[in-house]
Amino acid sequence: MKRLLLCVALVVGLAGLWNTGPVYAAGKTGQQTNAPQTPPTATTGAPGYVGSETCLTCHAEVGKNFANNPHSKLALMHNGKGITCESCHGPGQAHVDSGGEITKIFLPSKAPASQIDATCLGCHAGVHPNFERSPHAKAGLSCISCHSIHAPQSEQALLKLPQPTLCLSCHTDVKGSFDMPFHHPVNEGGVNCTDCHDAHGTFQNSNLRITADQNMICTKCHMDVRGPFVYEHAVVKGEGCMACHTPHGSQNARLLNMPTINTLCNQCHSQVSADTIHGMNPGSQELTPCTGCHTMIHGSNLNAAFIR
Ligand code: HEC
Ligand code: HEC
Ligand code: HEC
Ligand code: HEC
Ligand code: HEC
Ligand code: HEC
Ligand code: HEC
Ligand code: HEC
Ligand code: HEC
Ligand code: HEC
Repeated sequence: MKRLLLCVALVVGLAGLWNTGPVYAAGKTGQQTNAPQTPPTATTGAPGYVGSETCLTCHAEVGKNFANNPHSKLALMHNGKGITCESCHGPGQAHVDSGGEITKIFLPSKAPASQIDATCLGCHAGVHPNFERSPHAKAGLSCISCHSIHAPQSEQALLKLPQPTLCLSCHTDVKGSFDMPFHHPVNEGGVNCTDCHDAHGTFQNSNLRITADQNMICTKCHMDVRGPFVYEHAVVKGEGCMACHTPHGSQNARLLNMPTINTLCNQCHSQVSADTIHGMNPGSQELTPCTGCHTMIHGSNLNAAFIR
């Protein structure tokens, strides 16, 4: 038993060494392309590598499912001479020579998260450079917490489960907000979690996607409120949509973050002057919703008080 453990440790250690190759190379050259890169170590004919054809002699069933995998393109990148399997599983010579000894091959599902990530990021760091500082990586998740290379259950991006099931399987705490009377139609398939979030991490709080103007997260779909307006409601451009809205779901039909419009407005406008039309309604601001008159609440081209 001890010997087996030692053996595993050794293999894992070696796999670790092997893994530093691609990551180091990617960091060093600072490449930021969208095209995944191939680790320089994994070229056909390099010592320790046998090529996919050899793997498939024993793992025919894996190979059959693999034909439609985007990673089968790896082979094409090398004139059909595949190093495909070993780009992820590491050099396979020892595994093959031993007739399939499982401790002599890198198996991602049994490796520590950091090693899995390093393997995948060896090629994908260009698209997902922020993963290691994302809340997901910090919580110990790895690429294969969400992706499945050999048995994906989604048309999208080799995901283990389709959205939103994937996300909600862990985020049970936010599940309830999408069951509220008014919500973004995520369960209905109209909006994805990843329309607003990037699971791979960003520099924003809550893994929010980054856009040139941060409101674009919302205005890419809600174009009518984007502006620019001659008279901007300063808070829309300043604090952004979340100053008044809640993103997931709400008791309020307009997804407001307060139960009524007037309580929302009065957080910032508690002293609306009595000498304007407001004086007609002294002390009973509950009676008419502010937006009954201030209809162009996101901004107006005609009136500085957003009356029209
Ligand atoms: C001589 C036959 C043979 C060849 C060639 C071969 N394997 Fe295997 N492989 C096996 C056997 C046998 C097992 C153990 C299967 C089991 O226990 O379910 C195995 C298991 C594995 C596992 C799973 C390990 C685990 O813990 O479940 C991986 C990953 C793997 N092989 C990858 C490869 C790759 C990549 C190649 C090509 C570099 C390759 N194999 C070539 C016979 C082979
Ligand atoms: C893009 C990376 C990647 C490539 C390429 C890849 N694998 Fe895997 N393989 C994985 C990961 C990750 C797992 C762990 C289980 C999972 O996530 O599906 C795995 C698991 C396995 C297993 C264990 C049994 C299982 O299904 O869990 C075998 C056997 C295997 N791979 C063989 C191969 C062979 C043969 C090839 C080449 C045709 C190959 N792999 C190509 C990443 C890869
Ligand atoms: C040797 C380089 C390499 C490694 C290592 C690698 N990939 Fe890939 N990956 C690719 C290539 C090439 C494609 C196909 C890109 C394309 O279709 O343009 C791809 C495609 C993908 C896609 C699908 C993208 C889409 O748009 O549907 C996902 C998801 C993915 N890889 C995840 C992973 C994960 C997870 C790992 C680690 C287990 C991994 N990859 C390891 C090179 C690699
Ligand atoms: C928390 C879940 C999660 C984790 C962890 C995760 N991904 Fe993804 N990944 C997704 C989802 C969801 C998509 C599809 C939507 C999107 O593009 O954001 C995706 C898309 C992708 C794509 C294809 C589309 C694109 O963004 O170019 C690649 C490649 C990819 N992931 C690689 C990785 C790698 C490599 C890792 C580990 C470093 C990883 N992912 C970790 C959920 C995850
Ligand atoms: C395997 C479990 C798992 C899956 C799947 C998963 N997450 Fe997470 N997620 C976590 C954990 C753990 C954290 C960090 C702890 C926390 O903040 O809850 C986290 C953090 C987050 C955060 C940051 C929370 C904050 O307070 O800053 C967001 C946003 C998020 N995940 C969105 C998603 C989305 C979107 C998906 C689907 C693409 C997804 N997650 C899939 C487990 C998961
Ligand atoms: C319409 C855009 C949008 C969609 C769709 C969306 N989110 Fe969010 N999410 C946000 C915003 C914005 C925040 C930040 C809220 C804040 O800072 O007040 C957030 C915060 C979070 C947080 C951290 C704070 C919290 O509420 O726990 C998690 C976790 C999260 N979202 C997960 C998810 C998951 C899982 C899905 C899909 C089921 C999803 N989100 C869909 C915009 C969205
Ligand atoms: C991917 C597109 C998309 C994104 C991104 C998006 N929304 Fe939505 N939003 C929708 C859809 C679809 C509905 C439901 C419309 C319906 O039911 O008529 C909706 C509904 C709403 C509603 C209620 C609208 C009404 O007519 O009562 C508000 C408010 C809202 N979204 C605000 C936001 C905010 C704030 C953000 C940014 C955090 C955002 N949305 C991001 C698509 C999106
Ligand atoms: C000052 C608070 C406030 C801010 C900031 C704000 N909204 Fe609103 N929004 C409201 C109110 C109040 C309503 C309800 C109006 C009504 O009932 O007539 C509303 C309604 C909406 C609606 C429903 C349809 C419509 O046009 O009335 C959408 C969509 C919407 N907001 C999106 C956004 C987006 C996207 C942002 C960020 C660019 C944003 N809101 C910023 C207060 C705000
Ligand atoms: C988070 C704070 C905040 C909230 C909530 C908010 N506003 Fe404002 N509003 C502002 C700021 C800041 C200005 C710009 C004040 C200035 O220029 O003196 C402004 C300006 C205005 C103006 C133009 C004032 C003027 O002097 O011309 C009107 C009208 C107004 N808001 C109405 C509303 C209504 C109605 C609501 C509720 C739907 C609301 N606001 C919610 C912060 C807020
Ligand atoms: C019956 C219609 C009506 C209602 C309801 C109403 N307003 Fe007004 N409001 C006006 C008019 C008219 C003006 C003056 C516009 C002008 O000077 O051009 C005004 C001006 C304002 C101004 C800028 C000048 C000032 O008095 O400070 C603010 C801020 C404002 N309203 C906020 C609110 C808030 C907050 C509510 C809800 C609590 C509200 N209004 C409800 C009609 C209304």
